[in-house]
Amino acid sequence: MDLSVSIGDARFPNPIMAASGTFGYAREMENVLDLKRVGAIVPKTITLQPRKGNPPPRTTETPAGLLNSIGLDNDGVDAFLARHMPYLAEIGSPIVVSIAGKTVDEFAELAQRLDGHPGITALELNVSCPNVSGGVDFGADARMCHQVVGAVRAKTGLPIFVKLTPNVTNIVQVGLAAQEAGADALTAINTCLGMAVDWRRRVPRLGNVLGGLSGPAIKPIALRAVYQLKQALSIPIIGVGGIATVDDCMEFFVVGASAVQVGTASFYRPTAVIDILDRLPDALRALGAERLADVVGTIRTPGGLAEGCGTPRADSAAPEASGISPNRAG
Ligand SMILES: Cc1cc2nc3c(=O)[nH]c(=O)nc-3n(C[C@H](O)[C@H](O)[C@H](O)COP(=O)(O)O)c2cc1C
Repeated sequence: MDLSVSIGDARFPNPIMAASGTFGYAREMENVLDLKRVGAIVPKTITLQPRKGNPPPRTTETPAGLLNSIGLDNDGVDAFLARHMPYLAEIGSPIVVSIAGKTVDEFAELAQRLDGHPGITALELNVSCPNVSGGVDFGADARMCHQVVGAVRAKTGLPIFVKLTPNVTNIVQVGLAAQEAGADALTAINTCLGMAVDWRRRVPRLGNVLGGLSGPAIKPIALRAVYQLKQALSIPIIGVGGIATVDDCMEFFVVGASAVQVGTASFYRPTAVIDILDRLPDALRALGAERLADVVGTIRTPGGLAEGCGTPRADSAAPEASGISPNRAG
């Protein structure tokens, strides 16, 4: 069965990808699964300069998910290219490099540094990390998101994924701005801002007080985001949030995802990506599909989207003067 997916100029052998920050730099997983079968590997987000991340504790379990406040701990782009990229490039699986900047110029500089570097299939712009203070929240504002994507677009010919935050009132407006500025795909969603408390000691359970919730708890939020984005946008959407089984994946495909990423599940079942991939052809056949594309966005809803469910009117889609059309449903 043909499981391949095309995004921009890039072709992915299958739609099951490993999400940023939950698969290390892949080397950590080499003894656990066959890395070259992974649809794409998105290593942990990198920044221009090394970052220490947030104070410990940086993770805590909640009843239906993981709360983390890692804070983009990484050694910076130079160390990434020297220490990790040679290994990643040898794997044979597409590598999508996740980048984050504190300013538009930092995003653009990172894109320029990575453009043309051997072994990089695409860039994922992390405009959605809830754990970083002091920077601009690019993913929370359509206009800022448009600026970042436009600046990166000007510096690279690589396909651009834009990873969106669920911590906004209208994710569709931000998605439309990213599309308008030249994004090739949207990744939805990053973690949901949350908090965990030890009431006996009257302290937060994370050193950073707030963190990002991931895992099963956020799957309905992620499905909602993918569904809303699919209604309004023409570029492919990559679904992520609480995916642990092939059934979870199929839910995302049916609501409109062209590919998915597996995150937290890789922590408690490191073979999750491959387990899902092995089961995918049977699940697609169960719907009479001969290829993945046959099921994408085929959900049957009683009467389409109810008013106020996120498909913005043309005049409310930001940025104002962009000429964004909300009706380019793909
Ligand atoms: C410990 C941890 C670290 C993460 N680090 C990153 C990161 O560096 N960059 C990023 O874009 N997303 C990061 N994420 C978010 C995941 O890629 C994913 O979007 C999110 O966890 C939702 O998917 P899941 O429920 O399958 O985990 C991280 C998530 C976790 C749990």
